[in-house]
Amino acid sequence: MPSYLITGASRGIGLAFLENLSSTPGNTVIGLVRNVADTEVKIAEWKRTNIHLIQGDLTNYESLKSAVDATSKITGGSLDYLIANAGLVPGISAREPFSVLGQDPDQLQTQLVELFQINVVGNIHLFNLFLPLILKSDIKKVITISSGMADIELARTYSIYENALYSISKAAVNMAMAKFSAEYAKEGVLFLSVCPGMVDTGHNSGATEKQGKKFMALSEKFMQYQPDFKGPITPEESVKDVLNVIEKASVANGDGGAYYSHLGKGEKWL
Ligand SMILES: NC(=O)c1ccc[n+]([C@@H]2O[C@H](COP(=O)([O-])OP(=O)(O)OC[C@H]3O[C@@H](n4cnc5c(N)ncnc54)[C@H](OP(=O)(O)O)[C@@H]3O)[C@@H](O)[C@H]2O)c1
Repeated sequence: MPSYLITGASRGIGLAFLENLSSTPGNTVIGLVRNVADTEVKIAEWKRTNIHLIQGDLTNYESLKSAVDATSKITGGSLDYLIANAGLVPGISAREPFSVLGQDPDQLQTQLVELFQINVVGNIHLFNLFLPLILKSDIKKVITISSGMADIELARTYSIYENALYSISKAAVNMAMAKFSAEYAKEGVLFLSVCPGMVDTGHNSGATEKQGKKFMALSEKFMQYQPDFKGPITPEESVKDVLNVIEKASVANGDGGAYYSHLGKGEKWL
C-alpha cells in the first residue's frame, strides 16, 4: 500500500490530508510538522496506527535532511507521494495593492523574502532532498499545493491586485515544478501544482470592518470570474477533490509540470 508525506500537516488543509489518507488503514501516512507534540494532541482521538509525525521546518535545511532519514526508516527507503502543502499564507493586511505596500519598502521586501524562503526555496530543498526516495517508488508523484492567485490571466482580466507578494511566490513555485518536471519526467516522476480551491481555514477571521469591505470587493471580482461560486469549501471537501486530481494525473497523460485546479485541468480555481 502506498506511502504519503504531507508537509504542513498540523492544521488546515494539511491536517485534512492527514485525516483523509490515514482513514485507509493500509496507507503509510507521514506528516511533516514544525511542532510534533501539538499535532499529536490534535490527532490522538483518531486512534490511527498508520500515522507518523516527523519534525521539519521549510526554513531549516538540516531539519529537512533529518526528515528524509526518518521517512526512509518508516517506509523502507522509498516514498510514493510527496504532497508539499505547507506554506506561508499572509494575513489580511497583505491584500493591499502595491501602491500601499510600497509606502513601506523595507516591510515589502521583508515579506517577499520570507514568502520566497518558505514557499519557494524551502519547497525546492524539500523536493531535491526527497527525490532519492521518490525515485525508488513505482508511483513517483510530487505535488505542490499552489493557488489560483498565481494565475496571470486571472489577475490581468479581473484586476485582482490583492495578495501580490503571496501570488508571486506561488507563481514562482509553479515554475519550479515545471523545471523539476522538465528534468525528471523521463524518469517517470510526476510534478504537479494543484490549487485547493478557496478553503475555509480561518484566514479571514478577525477582520476589521475596513478589511471586511476589502474582502467583499475581492469576492465581487471572484464572482465576476465565476458567477456560480458558492463560497469557500471545507478542508475535507478540498482534499477529496485534490486527491482525485492527483490520482488521475500522470506523466504519460502529459500532466507533468502542469498547474490544475482542485477540479482538474482547465477547471475554474474556486
Ligand atoms: N486556504 C485556502 O483557501 C488556500 C487557497 C489556495 C492555496 N492554499 C494553499 O494551501 C496550503 C495550505 O493552506 P492552509 O489554508 O491550510 O494554510 P494554514 O492553515 O495557514 O496552514 C499552513 C501550514 O503550513 C505550515 N507551515 C508554515 N510555515 C512553515 C514552515 N516554515 N515550515 C514548515 N511548515 C510550515 C503551518 O505549520 P504551523 O502550524 O507550524 O504554523 C501549517 O501547517 C498553503 O500552501 C496555501 O498557500 C490555500
